[in-house]
Amino acid sequence: MNDHGFVKKQDPEVYAALEGEEKRQAEGIELIPSENYVSRAVREANSSILTNKYSEGYPGKRYYGGQTYTDIVENLARDRAKQLFNCKYANVQPHAGANANIGLYFALLEPGDTILGMDLSHGGHLTHGHPVTYITKIFKFVRYKMKNADTGEIDYDEMREVAKKEKPKIVLAGYSAYPRELNYAKFVEIAREVGAFAVMDIAHIAGLIAGRAMKNPFDFGFDVMTTTTHKTLRGPRGGMILTRESEEVAKKIDKSIFPGLQGGPLMNAIAAKAVCFGEALSPKFKEYAALILKNAKAMEEVFRKANIRMLTGGTDSHLILADVFGSLGMSGKEAETLLDEVGITLNKNSIADDTRGPMDPSGIRFGPPAITTRGFKEKECARVAELMVEAMKNKDDKKKLSAIREEIRAMCKKFPIPESFV
Ligand SMILES: Cc1ncc(COP(=O)(O)O)c(C=O)c1O
Repeated sequence: MNDHGFVKKQDPEVYAALEGEEKRQAEGIELIPSENYVSRAVREANSSILTNKYSEGYPGKRYYGGQTYTDIVENLARDRAKQLFNCKYANVQPHAGANANIGLYFALLEPGDTILGMDLSHGGHLTHGHPVTYITKIFKFVRYKMKNADTGEIDYDEMREVAKKEKPKIVLAGYSAYPRELNYAKFVEIAREVGAFAVMDIAHIAGLIAGRAMKNPFDFGFDVMTTTTHKTLRGPRGGMILTRESEEVAKKIDKSIFPGLQGGPLMNAIAAKAVCFGEALSPKFKEYAALILKNAKAMEEVFRKANIRMLTGGTDSHLILADVFGSLGMSGKEAETLLDEVGITLNKNSIADDTRGPMDPSGIRFGPPAITTRGFKEKECARVAELMVEAMKNKDDKKKLSAIREEIRAMCKKFPIPESFV
């Protein structure tokens, strides 16, 4: 539904782009596993008058006056986050997932300290120590890996060995492109052995943990979790840091985010986070999270039957990483472009130890969080996967591709993007 009336009157150029994007989202299948559709309530809060307010500091301890309502909103967001993830402290101010991670490193480490994280080609995020990021100039990153990319088993022996040798201060779990549930107890055991903090970046699976469809790392003794709020959690773009029980750690994190890293919080986004967390606490969200897993399994099954190699052999979560180059001789970039043409959006992705470059890698990454929001169930998700395979196997058959585009359009029409989830 169009809600850009003032933009339309005042700024036709921006309006045209907003309208175009609205149509694109309505008419296409969104399979990027880190994207989702938020409710109208989240959008309203995100575009609310709180964008006018400076609120440096934290509830009850601000640097500016006029904080009656910002304090209410931030306390609601913090309390709901704590309830959702079963922990004692929440910082809801990070502007993004990257800020949450960087803020956390500065809270817990001194320059030169070491972080033990997953090998980046095996699924880690840029902020887990990619050489293109500035944090690698400040902290040392060492690595563990999967033992076998076809089963996804992590090499915990290697992890322990590296941890004993390198003495990291953080043992980091959590990834952008790894589809398996982890052995959380093992992570915590290794972190404790070397006196490191056990930290998990749950950005991708936050909604699945909140909806109790996947295990909560805090139940196994993880000390801190960082996250984004805009992926499976279905909230506004933003970040958050959760601390299981240490007040000392939580205080360091608060200081690190403000004034260490950021200035004034985006209070409009924090209001939208509060609304999103309220939605995630509802019973319907549990159904949503459970359905994401079932829908991902339905897509996995189609790819398995089509003999397309999936990294780690499949998925326990909301995302699938497929080796389209190895299986079909089509690069990830080629698949991304082709599927875009038939109305399916996903992203090219490097696979473990990829021999191709990151701009034209061997894999694609996709998943059903957004289409599950739209109401797709296993049957529809399996059909989408079938259409993906059909398109990739018939990439030069214009007639076939055009029929697939039509079927995608019809499915999207049948399942309009909903406005409310409660
Ligand atoms: C695991 C993980 N952590 C952090 C981030 C960074 O989040 P943002 O893009 O909000 O900075 C991402 C984003 O894709 C991610 O996948």
